[in-house]
Amino acid sequence: MTSDNLRCAALQLLERKPPPGLVVPAGMVVPGSLPLLIETLACPGSPVAPEALASLCLKYFYAYVHSEQLDADVSLEGLTELAGQFVRRRGGCAQLAGKSELRRFLLHHGFALQMLVDLPKTVHLLAALLERKLPVAEAFLGLDIGAGTGILLVGQYLLARRAGYDSPILIGFECQPHVARRADSLASALGIGRVRQADATRKEAYVDLPDGPVACVTNETLPSAGRRLYKEPFPVICEALFAALGPRLANAVFLPEAVWASDRPGRSWLHLTPHNAFAGDGQRPDKPLRLAFMRDVELAGERIPVDRVGEGLAELVAPPWRESLCRRW
Ligand SMILES: C[S@@+](CC[C@H](N)C(=O)[O-])C[C@H]1O[C@@H](n2cnc3c(N)ncnc32)[C@H](O)[C@@H]1O
Repeated sequence: MTSDNLRCAALQLLERKPPPGLVVPAGMVVPGSLPLLIETLACPGSPVAPEALASLCLKYFYAYVHSEQLDADVSLEGLTELAGQFVRRRGGCAQLAGKSELRRFLLHHGFALQMLVDLPKTVHLLAALLERKLPVAEAFLGLDIGAGTGILLVGQYLLARRAGYDSPILIGFECQPHVARRADSLASALGIGRVRQADATRKEAYVDLPDGPVACVTNETLPSAGRRLYKEPFPVICEALFAALGPRLANAVFLPEAVWASDRPGRSWLHLTPHNAFAGDGQRPDKPLRLAFMRDVELAGERIPVDRVGEGLAELVAPPWRESLCRRW
């Protein structure tokens, strides 16, 4: 056996099959292309069922990876195949054999894609966003901080269009250059907005924004439940964002609407809201904010432990796929 053959045989030992069956229940995915689904969901008053939002995420996932098929009506089998290739991107699987470029892409974009394909949590976030009532304004300027694939920018687009803003201005900030590039080309191709490669913890990231009040800020840069806030950049980003834009954020709607953090035993709590620039409500514990532990978020007026976001939407994913697909927090 040559060393190449030996290497292939060793790699094959790591291979496992993706979970069995379809990734979501048969019949759940709304037929049609991604642009068509976005246009349907953008119609003011049109229903926004969780299944339609999950379809949006899956179709967006597919278009993010296979950008040349933006207008395709991808079958559920096609979506399942990609989901399988994604969950087996590290160890490999027969469906990835001979597709080293695709595998590299899935590995390289793995973190951002992992957020997107946690359908219950991403759908919960989108549904909460779409419930928000916007203040009346002449224009809609929306910012998505830590945009990843740009899925929350799509959520903002739907929110704006459903509220009657035909041409919202939407800008995402993403620090990973390759993710920012891909999200930007997808969001541009869909006519949704732009994603900039920028470090959102720096005030300079916000200097050349269009004028006027900000209508909406999505900022999912939070750590997992029970981890200290500094594990992710949320506190530093909020500091920079409010220092840079201050009064322009006065009427903005935020996602999450608020965050709850506490000391380790859960005796002393901080309520991080837009009114305190997500820095706490004045009853500061004796330690800096960044050392506080992540606990809950507020979405659509409801306070929820962050690891229970999307709990009621588990059935959007077929049971064998849940563990490998649902890993946002
Ligand atoms: C948890 S993911 C969320 C992605 C997307 N918003 C979503 O909900 O699917 C956070 C994203 O923020 C990006 N990020 C982290 N720190 C950042 C920073 N300082 N500036 C801009 N983006 C950042 C990460 O690269 C990652 O893509």
